[in-house]
Amino acid sequence: VTDALTARSEMMVGRIEGHLLSMLVFALRPRTVLEIGTFTGYSALVMAEQLPPGGHLITCEVDDKHADIAQRHIAASPWSDRIELVRGPALETIARLPGPFDLIFIDADKTGYCNYFTALLPKLSSRGLMLADNVLQFGAVANDRDTGEDIVAMRRFNDLVHADERVEQIVLTVRDGLTVIRRVS
Ligand SMILES: C[S@@+](CC[C@H](N)C(=O)[O-])C[C@H]1O[C@@H](n2cnc3c(N)ncnc32)[C@H](O)[C@@H]1O
Repeated sequence: VTDALTARSEMMVGRIEGHLLSMLVFALRPRTVLEIGTFTGYSALVMAEQLPPGGHLITCEVDDKHADIAQRHIAASPWSDRIELVRGPALETIARLPGPFDLIFIDADKTGYCNYFTALLPKLSSRGLMLADNVLQFGAVANDRDTGEDIVAMRRFNDLVHADERVEQIVLTVRDGLTVIRRVS
């Protein structure tokens, strides 16, 4: 369906990474999940399916066309009561949300990742995890001659996280690279 309705179906996390997200929600039992970048709702739905009783997922989307499709998928699912889709630029939504969040999944505009990390770290619960997708840019982050906007932005994000002594992180080589971040202070 996403393939037919959008030009960019590769933006979805896909089945393997979707399965990892589902496993993490199953194991962590987060009460609150925040997703940055809904697209057509696939990753929101796979996470929502595993939420514990009372668990809640907020997902942020700036593009109305994407949000309309996602809203239809969410409404047609058994998990619509656990998912809140918030339209608008995610940074503005984040500013309005107090947190804390037990699980955060960043998967929107790559040039926004540094801002999302900075704004969200204080809102990550002490035992929570922050996940950031596409951190390898299919290997291009390691090629200094590649100066595409998203690639430069992702190098900046990776450096920012690496240098931040408040966190510990690991990069999983799942699909396009998924960084798992936790607070140490
Ligand atoms: C990679 S896709 C998300 C894929 C989704 N997580 C999934 O796996 O199904 C990125 C989405 O972020 C949205 N986006 C881009 N910039 C945004 C912003 N500033 N605020 C909120 N959403 C944004 C795009 O419109 C797009 O739908």
